[in-house]
Amino acid sequence: MGEPLIELVDVTKVYRRDQAQVCVLHGVGLTVAAGERMAIMGRSGSGKSTLLNILGCLDEPTTGTYRLDGADVSHLPDDELSRLRNRTFGFVFQAFHLLKGLTIVENVELPMEYGEVPAAEQRQRALELLELVGLGHRTDHRPSELSGGERQRVAIARALANHPRVLLADEPTGALDTRAQRLIIDLFLKIHATLGTTQIIVTHDPKVADELGHRTVRISDGRIEAEGACVIAAS
Ligand SMILES: Nc1ncnc2c1ncn2[C@@H]1O[C@H](COP(=O)(O)OP(=O)(O)O)[C@@H](O)[C@H]1O
Ligand SMILES: [Mg+2]
Repeated sequence: MGEPLIELVDVTKVYRRDQAQVCVLHGVGLTVAAGERMAIMGRSGSGKSTLLNILGCLDEPTTGTYRLDGADVSHLPDDELSRLRNRTFGFVFQAFHLLKGLTIVENVELPMEYGEVPAAEQRQRALELLELVGLGHRTDHRPSELSGGERQRVAIARALANHPRVLLADEPTGALDTRAQRLIIDLFLKIHATLGTTQIIVTHDPKVADELGHRTVRISDGRIEAEGACVIAAS
């Protein structure tokens, strides 16, 4: 197996609340291979979102090491970290987080303002991504005119705007009915098949984990319980 894409070594996260310190992650070690789809499961409050935010460089470990392509990025200055984040990760959240005042295509274009897609190509790329997620016919609509499942597909298109290497999703089907959930699962699989994007998906739902995860990592009270075997062949 080649070098992992992401490697966490003995990562802790401590939040300070008033005078108290709350340790939310305890010595987490985790590797993610390029091209794998990893599911993260655990109870509410077990530290899944904290872990995902650290994996996506939205948050820094309190102690421990984060390596991306073998390079230690645990203590980069803020501007370097945000540049690294913008070109490496795309995020999808349970509650979609689309901007109400913008059309669908404008929502998808937004992250490109901070990325490396030339201005002249941004509209075209946004339209292609909306085609990929099956919403090529709704590009001028507002988020309020779409169903929950459609909004999540827009959010997924937006997450892909800057050609991320890793797609991170925090309970992406948590707010959706069974039918919409099915479409989202199929979409993640299609994105993997067509773009090869590494995926890390937090979910409560064993079915989502089974279908999307090459392996499932379980977390309990801030500790990794079971990592499963990575089944991606060395490339
Ligand atoms: N910014 C914060 N400040 C203090 N405590 C936090 C903060 N974020 C999360 N926590 C606490 O950390 C624990 C894990 O939270 P989280 O990672 O959101 O869990 P999960 O996503 O598994 O539900 C919870 O007890 C939560 O209350
Ligand atoms: Mg959470």
